Amino acid sequence: MNLLEQIKANAKTYQKRIVLPEGTEPRTLRAADIILKEGLAKLILLGNQEEIAAKAEELGVNISSAEIVDPETSDKRSTYADLMVEIRKSKGLTKEEALKLLNNPLYFGPIMIKAGDADGELAGAINATGDVLRPAFQFVKTMPGVSVVSGAFMMFLNDPTFGHNGVMVFADCAVMPNPTDKELAEIAVTTARTAKAIVGMEPRVAMLSFSTKGSAKNELVDKVVSATEIAKKMAPELMIDGELQLDAALVPEVGKLKAPESQVAGRANVLVFPDLQSGNIGYKLVQRLAKAEAVGPVLQGMAAPINDLSRGCSVFDIVNMVAITANQAAALL
Ligand code: ACO
Repeated sequence: MNLLEQIKANAKTYQKRIVLPEGTEPRTLRAADIILKEGLAKLILLGNQEEIAAKAEELGVNISSAEIVDPETSDKRSTYADLMVEIRKSKGLTKEEALKLLNNPLYFGPIMIKAGDADGELAGAINATGDVLRPAFQFVKTMPGVSVVSGAFMMFLNDPTFGHNGVMVFADCAVMPNPTDKELAEIAVTTARTAKAIVGMEPRVAMLSFSTKGSAKNELVDKVVSATEIAKKMAPELMIDGELQLDAALVPEVGKLKAPESQVAGRANVLVFPDLQSGNIGYKLVQRLAKAEAVGPVLQGMAAPINDLSRGCSVFDIVNMVAITANQAAALL
């Protein structure tokens, strides 16, 4: 069984409630049909009941076992609005404003999770990353001990000699444009946890730079050196090392030469990039030039799993990401 099959098999046993705010979106409806048929999760589709039913009929998909909730007419609106006001009282959110926000399914979904009516969310097939993430940041917030959410990709490589049988985890490739040293350290630790929980690997985390163990001096390198120290203090049980150049992280001979004492150099299976530009470019380079399959971004560090799709996603991307979201929800318990 390959990793994605394993993730789906796990999802079937967890039966998590995953909310899909883009309830009338065709790829989402096609994916919902497959997810329900395969029993990967319980689904909650948000939107107008008649519109969803009409779209499903037009597409010829069966979503009869999904729960459909209309954010504009739900009888939970008042309760949810009270919860929102409570969460955002320091920001002065009024009940009237909360009720207005609840008309937007991208707010309604995270509040369902916060209220205990759903376990995870997946959106982004027709909405921009920021619009999916902002409600999640504001109302679901980060998990204890973590202040930043970041995005990891599972990279399925064609060469099984790299990573964990050819699977590597890259981060942050999706969220934090320019993390501080402390934020980068948190990204390293949460990525290691994702790698363990979702891929089942023993993470060996490389903090990437253009320098290996002091070979270059620059403030950009200093940030990675400092982040490595903080990450090691945050999670002494984890194998985290830096700063490492990519070849020192991946190639045993180079790792041995440039960082002979390192437990990570030459054998890294988790790559932490110094900022979002390098992380986003890095995963796309491997995806396009090395023809790796990139699954994600898996958002990590949130108090409950909320994942963002690319607007170019396929039906199968949605199916896979629902299974991953269900696995994350189970790992949080
Ligand atoms: N983790 C946790 N909370 C956060 C984070 C984070 N990474 N970033 C912002 N927040 C919180 C803030 O603290 C704030 O909370 P508050 O209202 O309680 O004070 C709230 O979210 C809004 O913060 P803003 O600074 O106003 O954030 P904004 O909404 O402007 O931006 C965003 C957040 C959209 C995620 C931004 O960082 C961004 O655009 N990142 C890049 C996303 C992107 O384009 N990725 C590349 C494409 S994805 C791909 O290719 C796979």
